Amino acid sequence: MVRERVTFGPARLFIGGQWVDGGAPIPVRDKYTGEVIGEVPEARREDVDAAVAAAQEGAKAMAALPAWRRAEILLRAAGMIRERKEEFARLIAAEAGKALKWARAEVERAIWTFTIAAEEARRIEGEVIPLDAVPAGEGYFGFYVRRPVGVVAAISPFNFPLNLVAHKVAPALAAGNAVVLKPASATPLTAVLLARVLEAAGVPAGGFNLIFGPGGTVGEWLAAHPGVGKVSFTGSRAVGERLTRVVGIKKLTLELGNTTPVIVAEDVQDLDWVARRLAVGAFYNSGQVCISVQRIYGVRRIFEPLVETFSRAASEMVVGDPLDERVDVGPLIDEREAMRVEGWIQEALGGGAQAVTGGRREGPVVWPTVLIRVRPEMRVVREEVFGPVASVLEADDFEEAIAAANATEYGLQVAVFTRDINRVLRAVQGLDFGGIIINDTPSFRADHMPYGGVKGSGLGREGLRYAIEEMTNVHMVVIRPAP
Ligand code: SIN
Repeated sequence: MVRERVTFGPARLFIGGQWVDGGAPIPVRDKYTGEVIGEVPEARREDVDAAVAAAQEGAKAMAALPAWRRAEILLRAAGMIRERKEEFARLIAAEAGKALKWARAEVERAIWTFTIAAEEARRIEGEVIPLDAVPAGEGYFGFYVRRPVGVVAAISPFNFPLNLVAHKVAPALAAGNAVVLKPASATPLTAVLLARVLEAAGVPAGGFNLIFGPGGTVGEWLAAHPGVGKVSFTGSRAVGERLTRVVGIKKLTLELGNTTPVIVAEDVQDLDWVARRLAVGAFYNSGQVCISVQRIYGVRRIFEPLVETFSRAASEMVVGDPLDERVDVGPLIDEREAMRVEGWIQEALGGGAQAVTGGRREGPVVWPTVLIRVRPEMRVVREEVFGPVASVLEADDFEEAIAAANATEYGLQVAVFTRDINRVLRAVQGLDFGGIIINDTPSFRADHMPYGGVKGSGLGREGLRYAIEEMTNVHMVVIRPAP
């Protein structure tokens, strides 16, 4: 197959409705070939200040737009993304290394994210509060309205360069806020394409602003800026924890990591199907998904066949160039990450684990790897791998599997495969995660469902309606009839 190159050319910062110069160029590479395909300028502190000042002006224009106009802009954006679907998908495949089939799925999801945001824009509601529920409120009338926070700082990761940006930008605009977006430096070009779409869709000047640069400088300047009303961050737990210390008194949503567990009960009937779903959940996007399958607890009776079917499904995945239609698993985001993941695999093998399949690395590519005989203290079990590595662990029974799944500092999503309603109920009561998926991979996410974690997995929820709640303030109105 002859590979059709994806190139983008130099881009600029987008501030106050203008494309403007910034500081030093950041090269953006094709993650499979290593070739430079574009560049963006790093924002200097004065660029961050300018972006927030422009957003403060933009926020006034956004807040003045009626709901139907905000909905119209978002729907227009959704339509334009649809028209440019293949362009977006190929760009994501090149700059993120995501296999084209999954890149297309991501674009499809982003279209829904904008479409549902448009619908939610029309129903940002308040509530009547019966103040006479207490004696002091007798004779009073009370209700609250939701108003936009003003400026939303959106800091997004590399693993979904379009849809995780959409999950911040679309609800922020739906609620009548302005946004300053700082995408991951590894994958900023998709955000540039989205900025062009939003500009053409009619977002007022300053309503959407785009800056680039490292999280440790540009990201923190933005998050800590006093002109920002809300910070929405998706990324690592370490950065999330740091943000809690630098943002000050602001609304904050953190979508952090997970060591995603799965429980397979002994009553499952079609293990082949379960194994194939788990292989997709473990290895698509090379496991660089916060809800990627990492720890699979198989109850003793089905443990051996589970290992066999899952490792077969893993080894059947096609590894290679993400721009090749046939490929399931492309590279990791860079070779350093691939080497880190390889190091964790080696550490596990050195400690007595066994790789049933995979364990191989070439440059930035790591082959889907299935480990058994791992122990809870190994990094592949205890820490988020964020790579194509899943371990299968044996549990004596369902209760032991629930306890093991919960034995983590994280709590984003978990999955349970069972046909037994009592086990389903036990799982729903006993598993401490923001999302509990029954009979499918824990990487399932519909974009309008509440999505977010407990414990070290973060704060707040995404999923348009829930993100809008976090991007608006409640303003309570109390009316006492005039004497
Ligand atoms: C994430 O990695 O947290 C996002 C997963 C998704 O949106 O499917």
